[in-house]
Amino acid sequence: MNIEQKLTATVIAALNALYGQEVPEKMVQLQKTKKEFEGHITVVVFPFVKAARKGPEQVGAELGEYLQKEASDVVSAYNVVKGFLNLTVSNSSWIGLLNEISADPEFGFLKATDESPLVMIEYSSPNTNKPLHLGHVRNNLLGASLARIVAANGNKVVKTNIVNDRGIHICKSMYAWKVLGNGETPASSGKKGDHLVGDYYVAFNNLYKKEVDELVAGGMAKEEAEKKAPSLKAAQEMLFKWENGDAEVVELWKTMNGWVYEGFDKTYADLGISFDRTYYESQTYLFGKALVQKGLEAGIFETQEDGSVWCDLTADGLDRKLLLRGDGTSVYMTQDLGTAEQRFAEYSLDEHIYVVGNEQNYHFQVLKLILGKLGFDWADSIYHLSYGMVELPEGKMKSREGTVVDADDLIADMVGTAREMSQELGKLDGVSEQEAAAICEMVGLGALKYFILKVDPKKTMLFDPRESIDFNGNTGPFIQYTHARIRSILRKAEESGVTTAGYDKAELLPEEIELIKALSEYPATVRVAGQQFAPSVIAAYAYDLAKQFNGYYHDHSILKEEREEVRALRLMLASEVARVIRSAMALLGINVPERM
Ligand code: ARG
Repeated sequence: MNIEQKLTATVIAALNALYGQEVPEKMVQLQKTKKEFEGHITVVVFPFVKAARKGPEQVGAELGEYLQKEASDVVSAYNVVKGFLNLTVSNSSWIGLLNEISADPEFGFLKATDESPLVMIEYSSPNTNKPLHLGHVRNNLLGASLARIVAANGNKVVKTNIVNDRGIHICKSMYAWKVLGNGETPASSGKKGDHLVGDYYVAFNNLYKKEVDELVAGGMAKEEAEKKAPSLKAAQEMLFKWENGDAEVVELWKTMNGWVYEGFDKTYADLGISFDRTYYESQTYLFGKALVQKGLEAGIFETQEDGSVWCDLTADGLDRKLLLRGDGTSVYMTQDLGTAEQRFAEYSLDEHIYVVGNEQNYHFQVLKLILGKLGFDWADSIYHLSYGMVELPEGKMKSREGTVVDADDLIADMVGTAREMSQELGKLDGVSEQEAAAICEMVGLGALKYFILKVDPKKTMLFDPRESIDFNGNTGPFIQYTHARIRSILRKAEESGVTTAGYDKAELLPEEIELIKALSEYPATVRVAGQQFAPSVIAAYAYDLAKQFNGYYHDHSILKEEREEVRALRLMLASEVARVIRSAMALLGINVPERM
């Protein structure tokens, strides 16, 4: 039971004893005591005045007097200001709270049981024609953190990825490789597989552009040239052959996708990202056709003269949506309708979160709407976690294509910048190269993850590598550094035989009470982050806690403190702060170092 709950119960009992009043819990309004008054928690007296038949000042005084006498384990002093009763919570209550926190190895976390809701979280979901980019980084970090936060709120979680491994995009890379590649492989070129395939996608586009220009120069209209360019025809031919199971095309497709997966796996590993279930579009792209049939029979969809099938959503304020082309082939939406049905059937999901960029807001709005029209009551449990673009400051890190920033390049750049900045500050002095490498990786990635996750996903953001590593700012490295610093204090304490024994005898300072309060707010913070699907809530909490501790440590030494019980208490506080920082950062997928 936390202090508010204890106080509420005590106030209810007091009102009963004093005035024979049976007061419901929600009538007991507790507030943080205003800075200018003495006390920790304030009870609003007005709601009890009528039944007591006395003025608010008097009721406040009687209630305060009673609490101080009869509940001295909770309330140690009181004062009344108008209709507000300011209570000073006893030292032992705060110590008790600290006891409870430190005794809970899963502090802040709810355990999932067999009956817990099952939540699927789909994230990443790349196409296989190019490497992951900065947008995927935001996506991956959000999805992975959300999965941890949702699990920490007592849900079962399935982390899901759907790889768009078939279609014209990969055929373009395949065709360019076939005509330009001379048998190049990741092994022969030393290129990471996804980069190699991405380079051929770029090569295709260059080839295609050249062909279009030539056709236009020869007198053809641009629009026609864009359709007739031989490379595009060849890629379309490949897609047709793939759909008909042509052995050679399928073999090449498998080989090149295999290269891409090796590359993706490396990037995922670097980011600390994993999945419980991976779907491949090649295995699901035909799903959804049966649903279209069902919708036609139910009169929800309509067929046009050319045979194409549409869903008219104009009555819902949206457009008409194509679901099957005239030639019977399916579109992006068809597949998503089918896979949603399949996933809900396979897992009996209670909730399905899709982490996908805001350029697909319309797509997911339509997806939910059509699933609802098809009569699936679970359509309401679909949530599109939409996020905005990430940009880099002008001139930073031009990627190979010149437009998007490559994820691997960014990770390498972050680790490099972490090294530069740590060296400038002398943080790597006297550290072995092996340890320095580990620290720079942790700091570089911590900076990247924290800077992205602290922002509300909906907002477009600017990612500034150097700002993200600033050891004094609202950054991952600042929090990591605070953790390392506490751990080093704890190590020193251990070496010199200082322990937390007897900490409960210490008289607490107001700032120590503030720290205990901050720690005690962690569980509620994790709940809020879970309800709002908001890693940023955890990020803000971790920063505030680290900052608060640093302020405290600046004013009060720990190991130099002479009074044994006070030193023990400070050690205890430091150790719990470090533990909660580690836990909160883990929810963001960020590791914290033992030393730095
Ligand atoms: N691969 C798609 C893209 O890169 C994103 C897929 C999102 N997931 C989904 N179920 N539609 O745009």
